[in-house]
Amino acid sequence: MKRILIKDLEKHIGEEVLINGWVDVRRDQGKLIFIDVRDVSGKVQAVALPFNKEAHAVAEKVRSEWVLSIHGKVNARPEKNVNKDEQNGMLEVELLSIEVLNESVTPPFDIRGAGDDINEEIRLRYRYLDLRRPRLQKNFRMRHEVELFCRNFLSKENFLEIETPILTKSTPEGSRDYLVPSRINPGKFYALPQSPQQYKQLLMASGFERYFQFARCMRDEDLRGDRQPEFTQLDMELSFVEQEDVMELNERLLIAIVKELYPNKRIQQIPFPRLSYKEAMEKYNSDKPDIREDKNDSDLLAFCWVVDFPFFEKTDEGGWTFTHNPFSAAKPEHREWLMNKEHIGDILTTQYDIALNGFEIGGGSIRNHNPDALRRVLQIMGHSDEKIDQNFGHMLEAFSFGTPPHGGIAWGLDRLMAILQNEPNIREVIAFAKNGEGRELMTESPSEVPVEQITELGLRLIKP
Ligand code: AMO
Repeated sequence: MKRILIKDLEKHIGEEVLINGWVDVRRDQGKLIFIDVRDVSGKVQAVALPFNKEAHAVAEKVRSEWVLSIHGKVNARPEKNVNKDEQNGMLEVELLSIEVLNESVTPPFDIRGAGDDINEEIRLRYRYLDLRRPRLQKNFRMRHEVELFCRNFLSKENFLEIETPILTKSTPEGSRDYLVPSRINPGKFYALPQSPQQYKQLLMASGFERYFQFARCMRDEDLRGDRQPEFTQLDMELSFVEQEDVMELNERLLIAIVKELYPNKRIQQIPFPRLSYKEAMEKYNSDKPDIREDKNDSDLLAFCWVVDFPFFEKTDEGGWTFTHNPFSAAKPEHREWLMNKEHIGDILTTQYDIALNGFEIGGGSIRNHNPDALRRVLQIMGHSDEKIDQNFGHMLEAFSFGTPPHGGIAWGLDRLMAILQNEPNIREVIAFAKNGEGRELMTESPSEVPVEQITELGLRLIKP
């Protein structure tokens, strides 16, 4: 007999079926034993009747989270037992025979509830069990739907999804890098990408014109509810565009996601309001303002763009550093200032950030495709020409071969998903999230490694 999914049982009333799944809960009433069976598609109540001795005997011994293969008959429930609010509330599966596919020891916590009251360290330690709970199953189903929607949308807009390297070069551009020692190049290190920024610009140099990628990014920074050491960006880059074009396309995609996949949610204002960095700071004292009219409404989405950021800010040492990334172009009216290194603190960048309900869910800019302008930015930051060539020579060189004007953006996909799913932090939308100390508690990483493995890499540990 072919297995059917629990969500399809209602089409089989009166028939014998085969279902596979887990024991969600079992209620023994002596003569009648009820088992709620769960599979990826939902739940159903099954019942072992006393005259069917074999099935009844198996039903007596099964426990929560055992895996069963059930041969049963789908019966309509008598009118008085119908529960309209419940999936399959109009039917019941009469157990004809039960095969135990696997047993389970008693789970360390209840997986039927939302799980908010359970210590998160324990949830992460047994993450594969935690992920069985319906709330998390739903989060990942919706994450899949959003990713699929984006892929289809961008594909129709002539974007290509292209993967970029995970083993890359360490360059001073933002947070601290995760380093990977190279065994075959002793003393040398790869860096894990903080974002595909340079590669996506190089793909524009290659003439692909429109690129996107669900890109895994790694940053060695202090963690918070909206920050993980590895996270996912929806990353994109477009050639022959201006700021408006990138913002328009992204706004259209975000609106379409909400309309299509979250019809119960309301976007506060369309087109998304735009604030300058100065306005945002003066009015909300935040560069990712929460502009919701009603903060109690869990289905209100208040997107807004923040633009006109200063390009540079003073460092503690009195020099200059960039506020976002060194590859951004200055606003057209300030490009001359940049080239002349004048009014440095007043130069505005083409950076645009997008905030949602008080979280920064994305950011991007139009880039310097002119090698001199990029060099000027790096010089203002105090890099010597020698260091610039060493760190960014490949970018300057690529720009010297007819790289088109280009710009892009990256969304923090985990942050967007957490907000759409009304979750309090991004760990709830990341399958195997790390805890506040950057540890993955299920496999216990990071972990020590045998000294031979370290020696083979040409390294020696300093005793902590
Ligand atoms: P940025 O550094 O602003 O831009 O990153 C883009 C978006 O990624 C999300 N984000 C994070 N999410 C979870 N955990 C983290 N540690 C984390 N860090 C960032 C944020 C942020 O808005 N290359 C540029 C993009 C571009 O210019 O096209 C970049 O990476 O939501």
